[in-house]
Amino acid sequence: MATPSQVNASSTIANEGLEAAASGLVEQNDLLIVGPGVLGRIVAEKWREEHPVCQVFGQTVTTDHHDELIKMGINPSLKGTTEAHRFPNVIFCAPPSRTSDYPGDVRLAALNWNGEGSFVFTSSSAPYDCNDNGQCDEDTPVVPIGRSPRTDVLLKAEKVVLEYGGCVLRLAGLYKADRGAHAYWLGKGTVEARPDHILNLIHYEDAASLSVAILKKKFRGRIFLGCDNHPLSRQEVMDLVTKSGKFSKKFEGFTGTSDPLGKRLNNSKTREEIGWEPKYPSFAHFLGVSE
Ligand SMILES: NC(=O)c1ccc[n+]([C@@H]2O[C@H](COP(=O)([O-])OP(=O)(O)OC[C@H]3O[C@@H](n4cnc5c(N)ncnc54)[C@H](OP(=O)(O)O)[C@@H]3O)[C@@H](O)[C@H]2O)c1
Repeated sequence: MATPSQVNASSTIANEGLEAAASGLVEQNDLLIVGPGVLGRIVAEKWREEHPVCQVFGQTVTTDHHDELIKMGINPSLKGTTEAHRFPNVIFCAPPSRTSDYPGDVRLAALNWNGEGSFVFTSSSAPYDCNDNGQCDEDTPVVPIGRSPRTDVLLKAEKVVLEYGGCVLRLAGLYKADRGAHAYWLGKGTVEARPDHILNLIHYEDAASLSVAILKKKFRGRIFLGCDNHPLSRQEVMDLVTKSGKFSKKFEGFTGTSDPLGKRLNNSKTREEIGWEPKYPSFAHFLGVSE
């Protein structure tokens, strides 16, 4: 809990930020986060570590979390309300689940970018066309438009980003202790999906550090991949959860037999070009257990 003085301090900073933005005083290290959720808030923290003098703004769908954002020093606004002010750095890290026009929302975000620093969109690795548990990297072809509504939405949003000169970061499954595939499956107990499907993970903190590293490089029109290079089967993920002894719920098992398999992601090219390595090289490492 923030103390009253912290709340006042952060509210003052937020008000100053809003006034600065309203008066057009947007500085070169200022950052707009569209979708300041779990990932976006860690991006805000890491961005501030790199740029102690900056203002961070956050656009949301509802005002539900605006008080929390203000306490974190993020100046909140509702999607579509700050078009008059453009920002040198924009990261779009809202999921596709809460809008009927995801590419349209990404376009609105692009219109909020002044083209100076970076515009980064956090996409997903889902479009890589591989469902036989095979190898996959930055150069693997993507699913053609028209095959799946889920990948269509992502690819159309990515197209908008690239048209505006922004960069795409395709992320593997995000996780932290209480969020991600393992937490979802633990909550269910029994899951109707095949146990041998290979999935790919990246810790939220690592996705944030990679996003910030890409933002800082000021690339134009590039696609990167974010993963921990440690693919695991669903069963292996849940075996590690059990072995760790860190969760009170008990997982019963996977019961599927005929659903599609996954892919094994490798992002060595992204690591090399960005000069980035994850803090958590594998899910096992994060849990503190050997495989
Ligand atoms: N989860 C995964 O495994 C995974 C995998 C690959 C890629 N990704 C991508 O990683 C990114 C970060 O995920 P996350 O788990 O951090 O997201 P999250 O916490 O669910 O993000 C929620 C935030 O986004 C805002 N929001 C939702 N839809 C929006 C929209 N259309 N326009 C503006 N704001 C919107 C919400 O506003 P309110 O405050 O009003 O609720 C909230 O601030 C997303 O781009 C996601 O697609 C996730």
